[in-house]
Amino acid sequence: MDADSYQIGLENFDTKTREASNLDQISFWNEEAKKLTWFDQWTKTLEWNIPFAKWFVGGKINASYNTLDVHQTSIAKKPAIIWEGENGATRTITYTDLYHDVCKFANVLKSLDVKKGDRVTIYLPMIPELPVAMLACARIGAIHTVVFSGFSATSLRDRIDDSKSKVIVTADVGYRRGNSMNLKKIIDDAINELSFVEHVIVLKRTEESLQLNAKDKIWHELMTNSPDECEPEHLESTHPLFILYTSGTTGKPKGVLHGTGGYLTHLNSTFQWAFDIKDSDIFFCTADIGWVTGHSYVVYGPLLHGATEIMYEGVPDYPNTSRIWDIIQKHGVTIFYTTPTALRMFMKFGDSIPNSFKLSSLRLLGTVGEPINPKVWRWYFNIIGKSKCPIIDTWWQTETGGMILSPLPGLETIPLKPGSATKPIPGVDVAVVDEEGNELPTDTKGYLVIRKPWPGMLLTLWKDDKKYKDVYWSKFENNYYPGDYAIKDSDGYFWLLGRADDILKVAGHRIGTAELESNLVSHESIAESAVCGIPDEIKGEVIIAFVVLKQNTKKSEDVLRAELIQTIRNGIGPIATPQQIYFVTKLPKTRSGKIMRRVLKAIASKEKVGDVSTLEDGAAVKDVQDTFAKLQKSIKNNKS
Ligand code: WTA
Repeated sequence: MDADSYQIGLENFDTKTREASNLDQISFWNEEAKKLTWFDQWTKTLEWNIPFAKWFVGGKINASYNTLDVHQTSIAKKPAIIWEGENGATRTITYTDLYHDVCKFANVLKSLDVKKGDRVTIYLPMIPELPVAMLACARIGAIHTVVFSGFSATSLRDRIDDSKSKVIVTADVGYRRGNSMNLKKIIDDAINELSFVEHVIVLKRTEESLQLNAKDKIWHELMTNSPDECEPEHLESTHPLFILYTSGTTGKPKGVLHGTGGYLTHLNSTFQWAFDIKDSDIFFCTADIGWVTGHSYVVYGPLLHGATEIMYEGVPDYPNTSRIWDIIQKHGVTIFYTTPTALRMFMKFGDSIPNSFKLSSLRLLGTVGEPINPKVWRWYFNIIGKSKCPIIDTWWQTETGGMILSPLPGLETIPLKPGSATKPIPGVDVAVVDEEGNELPTDTKGYLVIRKPWPGMLLTLWKDDKKYKDVYWSKFENNYYPGDYAIKDSDGYFWLLGRADDILKVAGHRIGTAELESNLVSHESIAESAVCGIPDEIKGEVIIAFVVLKQNTKKSEDVLRAELIQTIRNGIGPIATPQQIYFVTKLPKTRSGKIMRRVLKAIASKEKVGDVSTLEDGAAVKDVQDTFAKLQKSIKNNKS
């Protein structure tokens, strides 16, 4: 079958409905919200006080009730989570198991005086206790803030401090590539000076003895006598469900705050539409719950639908390059949702690896997080999907809560175009505009905007309404600005062209250049720094740093390079490690003092630099170019 003309989906949805739903967006979402279970019906579908949206005002709902209680009669014994550890250990957790664990942990939190609206930081690896802790918070109306377990103590401290979490949930260790990471130690370092933290709950995964501090409690001891029933709080639809920190264009990460009723409605509908979920499906999303894809399509989306899903703790190429195909074959996975970075890596390993597994259970494939180029799309379609599985390229963000652009096999038939996330989901109004906010003609590159509020949209940034307005609503009047370039073609399909701002996507992880730069200048020898991303065959983008040393710095470049890498690893985490650090005497800047990352990026990617007439000091370009050439030469000499 030719991928370009591949028609997907069931013909149970009139294609016109995508467009029609935009005309009466409010009544459309009003009907979608009714698919959830509410304690009290809302009185107003949308209160739009630009740029603050309140969805289903007056409605009362609970996220854990909708993911657990509603399944207790119909599918109580159905597996909710089939967990695979990196070392091959497995656990199966049914909907009843999950319900009782969540109730127990909700009672534990209550016993520690966690109340509605309190924040709880969760720093756990990909183990079932992570969704248990999240849903327990949701049950009592506490706001969870999950921090990816690869982040350093400094990043963690910033997030705990900003959210003022009174309880932390962690484990003694996490496993990655066969190594154990001492999470408890990272927590100890992070909360050292944070007196508002009252309790640290530690899940013990090993027999190793643990150094317990005054605030520490052991998960299993707290759970043993905790009652396994807990009444869910009846929460306002707009009650915050979680804060998820994400990189932005400033030095500090932003706390994206999501509500309950709108967010759940968005996920409930998009999960059904995009994945066409059936009772018999085995769903596998490879995202870590520390990122938004994990929140929305590992925790809330699948569990709202009573789906059975695979949760995998490790990295996709450990202990060997066939790990993922092995899991798919072993469990008969039917829907697989992953990232272009993972696919590029699998593709490089060669076709013979997936070809030696039985992948015939697969019926639907998805991708998220970065643009997928047509070559990788075709490989995914032909080699993994055996030319029979549609590919759902889904575009969305931490801030949008759920998918915004995607093919929707659960709704309609639409021909796919490799590399395009196709069209907006129903009830969302997306356009491509110019610098002034005017809609552009088709096939013209511009900025992607969302022109009306949608249910999954963030409530605001945690304790920072002003920044929320500035970041998302100031570039274009009345339009949400996601920060992406896009083109809309003459068939109404959208093609995403990468970030228009200073955010990098490294292996699908979102990292702000400003955050990296402020970490680099925190080193005593660094006067100035500038960071850009350059294309990489596997990771999509890799980080290149340029630094200017303070005068009288005595250390050698090699020593400094190693120290700077350590500074980044300590300040952010290993995912933010620069691939290369160049020492320059000046950075190219405009007359107004803005660093010209475009110039740095061009030099580092060996492209033409282009117009530099606004540069403050033309020599800076030459300096950067010379440094770059010198280093490249020495690398070459070392290799030969
Ligand atoms: C990028 C991840 C192209 C985009 C869910 C967006 C994509 C950012 C796609 C959000 C896609 C996400 N095609 N680009 N299908 N999906 N992006 O917040 O730049 O980690 O703005 O959310 O990822 O990243 P975030």
